[in-house]
Amino acid sequence: MSSAKPTPLSAKSSGPLIGTPELPGDKSISHRAIMFAALAVGESRITGLLEGEDVMATAAAMRAIGARIERREASGEEKEIVWHIYGVGVGGLQQPDGPLDMGNSGTSARLIMGMCATHPITVQFTGDASLSRRPMKRVMDPLSQMGAQFESRDGKMPLTLCGTNMPMPISYELPVASAQVKSAILLAGLNTPGRTTVIERTPTRDYTESMLRAMGADVQIEDLDEGKAIHITGYAELKPLTLQVPRDPSSAAFPCVAACIVPGSDILLKDVGMNPTRAGLYVTLREMGAKIELQNERIENGEKIADLRVQYAQLKPIDVPSGRAPSMIDEYPILAIACAMANGTSRLRGLHELRAKESDRLQVMADGLLACGVKTEIDGDDLIIHGSGKIQGGATITTHLDHRICMSFLIASLVAQQPIMIDDATPIQTSFPNFIPMMEQLGAEFNL
Ligand code: S3P
Repeated sequence: MSSAKPTPLSAKSSGPLIGTPELPGDKSISHRAIMFAALAVGESRITGLLEGEDVMATAAAMRAIGARIERREASGEEKEIVWHIYGVGVGGLQQPDGPLDMGNSGTSARLIMGMCATHPITVQFTGDASLSRRPMKRVMDPLSQMGAQFESRDGKMPLTLCGTNMPMPISYELPVASAQVKSAILLAGLNTPGRTTVIERTPTRDYTESMLRAMGADVQIEDLDEGKAIHITGYAELKPLTLQVPRDPSSAAFPCVAACIVPGSDILLKDVGMNPTRAGLYVTLREMGAKIELQNERIENGEKIADLRVQYAQLKPIDVPSGRAPSMIDEYPILAIACAMANGTSRLRGLHELRAKESDRLQVMADGLLACGVKTEIDGDDLIIHGSGKIQGGATITTHLDHRICMSFLIASLVAQQPIMIDDATPIQTSFPNFIPMMEQLGAEFNL
């Protein structure tokens, strides 16, 4: 999405990080808030929306298929930003004039494909080089069973989706633990007669089902011997949303790990979403001996929220079971940096899905850590990191248009003996536009 030219960046060796930074809104909830509000009847109001490039790609696409979306600054002293979304109603999406550019965002692409699949519209989906190498067959297969047709090169983008006006409900067992695939099918099911079912053996983030249910859709969760079935009944009328988006636990992970590994640090991360389907990193870091205290735990809009006080502590190595992967799937790059700073060997198990992210994160983390002098191996789907409590650094990391690789190695540079340079910091804009100023506010320093 970003047309900015590549900007190399490194961080200086850092003194203690201190403060209470302003964290961005949750990316998964922000995408869904715009999409679902666009399908509601009436006006939704969203505050705390993440204004990163990925979510803006969703907003642009939803406008192109018919929703009216406005960003307004509320009058008064607070100058709060409120997003007003006027929905078209389930079934009301319009034919766009041109291709939908999804930029770097897999969530935008896969969920919007789900919505369009059961509307009689033809939509071209395009994206950047990173998104164009990611697998789309995982959504094309179930959506084709529901009646949509696709034209693509090897199940990748760019692709053209021809939505159906005679959708069929399906019952589909997810072959990969993916909230995006689950959500695409449930969204297609919204405009399908009868009951559409997704069977999920391993829990993944559950915002789609909980938000749609809160908006009035008939969503039933059935516990199975292994996992659960999520049923949605079509032709729902969705009520508009009034929502304050919680802060993103995946973005909070970066300052959190930074404070865990920079001696003397003491920071407070406020209003962070602690939905158990997202909180795996925090469980893991505490098992590693991190000093993370959950304060002010509460439920807001059905979501668990907490403030996290994070202080420096010497970390221990860890063996993370594969079953925990979906609850911390985006956090492995920054966890790998924490493991490098532990004394001893860590094994992060079952990371096959990391190969399908914005970059092949399994390979890119292994290569990057090795280049920084950290002994690292890939064994099947496991990442093994032989931590020594220090990172030599002195390398330039190729980040492959992957925001989380960028931020992970900038955090590593704070503790490296020689600065680590990343080849391009612009992808950070996709999820965490104020990452650099926020880290500076905590005491970090960066070099262009
Ligand atoms: C997301 C689901 C996850 C995650 C992504 C956001 C979502 O992807 O990695 O960053 O909002 O549903 P998968 O569904 O591919 O696991």
